[in-house]
Amino acid sequence: MAQIIDGKAVSAKVKEQVRIEAEILKQKGIEIGLAVVIVGDNPASRVYVNNKKKACAEVGFNSYEYALPEETTEAELLELVEKLNNDGKVNGILVQLPLPKQINENAIINAIRPEKDVDAFHPENVGHIMIGDFSFLPCTPAGVMELIAETGVDVCGKNCVVIGRSNIVGKPMAMLLLHKNGTVTICHSRTKNLAEICSQADILVAAVGKAGFVTPDMVKEGAVVIDVGMNRNSEGKLCGDVDYAACFDKAGYITPVPGGVGPMTIAMLMRNTLTAAKIKNNILE
Ligand code: GUN
Repeated sequence: MAQIIDGKAVSAKVKEQVRIEAEILKQKGIEIGLAVVIVGDNPASRVYVNNKKKACAEVGFNSYEYALPEETTEAELLELVEKLNNDGKVNGILVQLPLPKQINENAIINAIRPEKDVDAFHPENVGHIMIGDFSFLPCTPAGVMELIAETGVDVCGKNCVVIGRSNIVGKPMAMLLLHKNGTVTICHSRTKNLAEICSQADILVAAVGKAGFVTPDMVKEGAVVIDVGMNRNSEGKLCGDVDYAACFDKAGYITPVPGGVGPMTIAMLMRNTLTAAKIKNNILE
């Protein structure tokens, strides 16, 4: 039977550390600000943005929301990004993805000043992650690493399988596991023998975007199973990529959805925003 990894509890610990550090900076007259930009009215994005604003309040950051209409042009969004790049009160800029189809996401990501890119999506920050010399960690993969650390399982030398190869999760996830000396395999929609590869994993990270994709035959007895999925099932209920009930007895550790990776992503965003403020004010780690 698996032990449940409690993302809410771990994220509360991370946010508390951030809150304490932010308080110390505040006493030195340094306020921390995160700008959150949402374009259009995607309901999932709205929930994420609200949660990010709530987390800012919890850790004592100022949050600045910019809610733009669905028909916003790329030029208008670039203009806002440039304004935020030059705003001294803003330490971090987060443009919630996905963006409406008339806006090229890469053009926006590339326009965010790397020092304010608290998502770590800018190619310069992606390059730093690849090399292993980084200030900002990609939020979701960094949150997953915290959850793995919580189990006490050492990544070094373990078979790690990541299902999914997105720029936001799969690719940086593989990099962070590699930096911890895991033996990493990335699986995706064209992978042959996917179930067999997954079943060899000591650490399995599912970031597919398909409800119930991971079934017990894909889980090694005692494995650490991390579910990055955020899907809605046919009844509209939030569920992950892992068939949680079916895999529970086989896994050694497992994250629930909700209450697993989701809260961690936001906690790591708070940590990155704190880091951005520290770097700006020459308070080096
Ligand atoms: N959309 C889904 N996940 C994310 C994220 O981590 N950051 C941003 N900016 N948009 C997202």
